[in-house]
Formats: sequence, structure tokens, C-alpha cells
Amino acid sequence: MSEETRHPAPRRVLSGMRPTGKLHLGNYMGALKNWVELQNATNDDGTAKYECYFFIADFHALTTDYAEPSELPANVKDVLLDFLAAGLDTKRSTIFLQSEVPAHAELSLLLGMITPLGWLERVPTYKDQQEQLKEKDLATYGFLGYPVMMSADILVYQTDFVPVGLDQAAHVEITREIARRFNHIYGEDDREILPEPKVLLTPSPKLPGTDGRKMSKSYGNTILLSDPEPEVRAKLKTMVTDPARIRRTDAGNPEICPVFDLHKVFSSGETQAEVRAGCTSAGIGCIQCKGWLADGVVKELAPMQERRRYFEAHPDEANAILDEGAVRANARAEQTMREVRTAMRLARR
Ligand code: TRP
Ligand code: SF4
Repeated sequence: MSEETRHPAPRRVLSGMRPTGKLHLGNYMGALKNWVELQNATNDDGTAKYECYFFIADFHALTTDYAEPSELPANVKDVLLDFLAAGLDTKRSTIFLQSEVPAHAELSLLLGMITPLGWLERVPTYKDQQEQLKEKDLATYGFLGYPVMMSADILVYQTDFVPVGLDQAAHVEITREIARRFNHIYGEDDREILPEPKVLLTPSPKLPGTDGRKMSKSYGNTILLSDPEPEVRAKLKTMVTDPARIRRTDAGNPEICPVFDLHKVFSSGETQAEVRAGCTSAGIGCIQCKGWLADGVVKELAPMQERRRYFEAHPDEANAILDEGAVRANARAEQTMREVRTAMRLARR
């Protein structure tokens, strides 16, 4: 095979998640499922398309939860199990804990030197989050610096692509600005030390929780990836429906029913058609409709729960995955840091 036709070197992909507890279907559809697909993507010749790094952002958890970190270890364990259950695989991806790769902290400090305060104050999540989490004092240096730390997470691997949802896109944008500024100040000739990463926007379907609002931990309306089948069925049974459909004999409108939004994600086209016909003609009841939905959700969760049971029974294996991930991530990050330290004249020669 000639040089030209050989596939290009795999491009690096990196993303992270804050350990806030057990993950739900919204987290899965909006992030994790996409990560697994990127991990498994191959070129025509069967080689991996991307070199993937996925991590648990425990430093980032402390930016908001510094005053009560006691649940952090349990949350890290839960998120790791969810990662592995979803299908992230240490043979294909580097899976690690942020705080076990000190280069994230070092690069964060160094990038802080060149990041104008105005850039940070302008990040939309900064004021939003402060207002939303009023019970926490977020007038801290660490919280303002959240995007700098996230930039370090990304740039320390000289990442090409960052799969995130729309809510995180502004953070990748500031990462690009920080990289550009770094290269402008420290780059020689036009050699880029820190390439500008690109967002890989994760399409996230509308995923309502059991109360019809967006599925979110803070609303208490979630279905967890780890919920056993009876729990999934019980939760869906109480889910809100088209409010105009009061009696079994009333026809309903699937287009305004949150149960149907979930059918669109978890049920076959055939089932969706049956629901549409049955609902609008009062041919089926909501209980039956929700039962069909539960079948689809349970089917999606079954292989995940099987993997989860395996790792719950083999906690040493789960731990070893983070150990190995830390070794690989440290090695790759150190490569970047040598260039960064030299560029910032921290090396002795
Ligand atoms: N801020 C991200 C979130 O809350 C998590 C995160 C931290 C991240 N560092 C990252 C995501 C680096 C992508 C790349 O979801
Ligand atoms: Fe919603 Fe299904 Fe009931 Fe129609 S039958 S209102 S789609 S739950």
C-alpha cells in the first residue's frame, strides 16, 4: 500500500464527565453512547479511527462541591461502573481519573498565566451556575477557573476532537482561544505546540423524565442505567402523559405526550406506529403504551446491566482499568508537558 492511500494516524478524541452519582438515560443518550460509538469506529481496513481518552473529572467536581467532598469516592466508583457498563473498553480507550494525572493540574496553572480574566467572566455558564447553585458559595478562584482547567484537560493530550453537548461548546471555544494565545506567545516560527481542538457536537434527542420535564438528577425524574427492570417498569408506569387524555375512552395526542418522546428514542418504528394509531383512536390505554416503552428501555439496558454485574463482581478489574489508564494518560500528557515547559522556559535548557 502506498503512503497516500494508507489511512491517516488516528485522531485523538477526549471527553470527560463530572462524577455526580449514578448516570441516567439522559446522560447516556447525550454523551456516553456517543463515546462508545467513537471508541468503536473503524477505518475500512479495520483499524481504529480515533485514539480515545475518557476520564472522570474529579477535580471539576470539587469546583462546586469543595465544601462536601465526602461522596466523591463513591461517585467516582459509580461513574466508572457506568462507563464500563455502557461499553467503554480499556482495550480500545484510555479510561482514567483526572486527579491521577497531575499534568492536568500543572497545565491548568500554566494556562492560567496567559488567560485574561475577562474571557472567564464572559463564559455563559459562569454567572448561570452561580445563580442556579445559590446555596453554594461559588465566588472562588477555582470556579472562575473551571474553563482553564477544562482547557488543560483537552490540550494536555493535544486533542483533535472533543465530543460534548451544546452546553459545553462554549468551553471548547475558550479552549481554542487559549491554545491560540499560547501558540502566539510561545510558538516558534509557525509551529503549533497546542493544536486547536474541534467540538464534535453530540446530537441529543429530547429526553423527558417521568414528570415530563427534561430528565435531570436535580428534578428526581430519572431512570438510571443501573435501575433493575421492575424499577424501570414502575417508574414508567407513573410517567405523565397527554393531560387531556383522562379516561381510557378519550383519544390522546402522542405529539404532546412525553411518553411518546421516549418511544421515539427506545421503540422500533413499528411500535411507534402502533402507539400513534392506538393512542389517537383510544384503541390502547396508557398503561399498555407505557408497557411497550418499558420493553424498549429494558432491552437497551440489558447488555449494560450484564456488564455492570460482571464488574461489580470483579472490583479489582475495574480498579486496574483506572490504574492502567493513569499510566497511559500520564505518559501521553508528559509528552506535551515537556514541550510546554520548554516553551515557557521552565526547563533548565
Ligand atoms: N465540563 C464537563 C461537563 O460538566 C466535564 C469536563 C471536564 C470535560 N473536562 C472536560 C468535557 C474536558 C470534555 C473535555 O460535562
Ligand atoms: Fe401518551 Fe401513550 Fe397514553 Fe398516548 S397512549 S397519551 S402516547 S402514554
